[in-house]
Amino acid sequence: MGMTIAQKILKAHLVDGEMVVGQEIGLRIDQTLTQDATGTMAYLQFEAMGVDQVKTERSVAYIDHNTLQSGFENADDHKYIGSVARKHGIYYSKAGNGICHQVHLERFGAPGKTLIGSDSHTPTGGGIGMLAFGAGGLDVAVAMGGGAYYIPMPKMVRVTLTGKLSPWVSAKDVILDVLRQMTVKGGVGKIVEYAGEGVKTLSVPERATITNMGAELGATTSIFPSDEATRKFLEAQGRGDVWVPLASDPDAEYDEEYTVDLSALEPLAAMPHMPDNVKKVTEIGEIPINQCCIGSCTNSSYYDMMKVAAILKGKTVDPNVSLTISPGSKQVFNMLAQNGALSDIISAGARILECACGPCIGMGQSPESAGVSLRTFNRNFEGRSGTQDAKIYLVSPEVAAASALAGHLVDPRTLGEMPEIEMPEHFVINDNMIVKPAENPAEVEVVRGPNIKPFPLGKALEASYTGKVVLKTEDNITTDHILPAGAKLLPYRSNVPFYSNYCFINVDKDFPSRCKEQGGGIIVGGANYGQGSSREHAALVPLYLGVKAVLCKSFARIHKANLVNSGIIPLTFADPADYDAINLLDEISLPNVLEEVKNGEQVTVVCGGRTFKADCEVSERQRHALLAGGTLLYARQQANK
Ligand code: F3S
Repeated sequence: MGMTIAQKILKAHLVDGEMVVGQEIGLRIDQTLTQDATGTMAYLQFEAMGVDQVKTERSVAYIDHNTLQSGFENADDHKYIGSVARKHGIYYSKAGNGICHQVHLERFGAPGKTLIGSDSHTPTGGGIGMLAFGAGGLDVAVAMGGGAYYIPMPKMVRVTLTGKLSPWVSAKDVILDVLRQMTVKGGVGKIVEYAGEGVKTLSVPERATITNMGAELGATTSIFPSDEATRKFLEAQGRGDVWVPLASDPDAEYDEEYTVDLSALEPLAAMPHMPDNVKKVTEIGEIPINQCCIGSCTNSSYYDMMKVAAILKGKTVDPNVSLTISPGSKQVFNMLAQNGALSDIISAGARILECACGPCIGMGQSPESAGVSLRTFNRNFEGRSGTQDAKIYLVSPEVAAASALAGHLVDPRTLGEMPEIEMPEHFVINDNMIVKPAENPAEVEVVRGPNIKPFPLGKALEASYTGKVVLKTEDNITTDHILPAGAKLLPYRSNVPFYSNYCFINVDKDFPSRCKEQGGGIIVGGANYGQGSSREHAALVPLYLGVKAVLCKSFARIHKANLVNSGIIPLTFADPADYDAINLLDEISLPNVLEEVKNGEQVTVVCGGRTFKADCEVSERQRHALLAGGTLLYARQQANK
């Protein structure tokens, strides 16, 4: 049977498992990327693995999220990331060089390669024919150390593009139409592959807009073929040597099929507050607007910005509208400056922001109260803009620029003939904001400001364990209970000791001090323990406080995986009635825990003179991680083999 593009790349990178839908497969990873908000922890984890130089073909650390420096914490984090990158063979893209996904496409991406990034929009790389996944920081650290990346084998979806986009209709409208058809849940556990005659009519940056918002479908990733357009883009970036052709086999089979007729598409908008709440701009009508933000990793390419400049040229932004422009990269910004388009944008009255995520991550530009903001971004969830009652519409750059001039939502087709945008034969290449790894890594000192604290590591499992019950909780404990969310604590993600003072603070304020007094212990929980977000810190902080096991009625899936990653044993009562017989500060023993976990047997628990059983239901790979004291220590063992 023939293969899809994704199956071909998966097969070429398969190091563990079989490609049967739903079964876990391990993949060799060629490239990694991090952004600064998640990168600090990923590099602390990498350092803890004790691997000297990254084992990937290319790893890049970008600074694009927390570029506002109103306190020392962000600046310290950037300094740390820069120095750790130089020491361990990682390229470092400085603040101001651009948004990770845009820069990666321009300067590093290559068809047929695998990429994981500690950012959910890493699938943008699918626009250039990479198999690119958003992953956790720990996954990225393990991949940098040469370990495999594990996912359940996804289903395959084909979206066939027919026809050609009409003037004023763009790639953003394509993905908004796919979202309308598939919804925000439609891509879960699937890889979305684009095919058909329409593919040829789209450039790499247009394809990247589409694969970028595959994240909003919930898809594992999205991918385009690698063809002449891909080769042309890479040659214009001076990187034609990395091009390889990629296409699916004619008899490849897909689990689901969709079609988009490009010729029939009209300008679309995702209405507040969901990316799949899509309507035609003409249906929504001329709603007044207060703000337009053009940029983000979805729509900030040279092509996008040139279209915006052509629309704004010689005109003036409506007096009631604030228009902001964030070019996606220094390359884009520089080219706009050199060819005069920047002057057209400035003259029209736009506000030029840094080449960074900016308003997309809430770094400034929150709309006014109950304001209406048109954004070329990828997410419009309630409150994400920083203004709880603002209404965010996701639109193409054409719709945003035309509406900024009119002061209300506008169908850009009313502007008349669309200006022709010439794509350059050669982009301006100047990588002087990308710092290469050091030639003499031994001489590089990693700079750790007061906000950078070492990553906590577990210990290999010993024959037996005895400890006190340091907490007993009810059912439905969330990761927010374990560690409160909120902007106040965000800058301290790289400072687990500080963070630990807030662990379970809203459930039992004495928990951190009790753990310190007892030298750690065991948490006893009810049903659905650890539901909520995938926050790794909800396991890392208990590890730091010495928690060795969580014994509960049932676990939320992701938190259980995070506990194993941290070397904390996840145990469930074989008989839930045993929960009732345990009290705070009881002594619990696990007399044969090492042998039982190793052999995949039930774990014996002794408490208050009673003996009962608990289950430790983990995969073979997780079992090895628990024995080693956590996934990092296991990866370190593997790397040093
Ligand atoms: Fe940045 Fe927003 Fe993309 S935060 S990486 S521009 S989704």
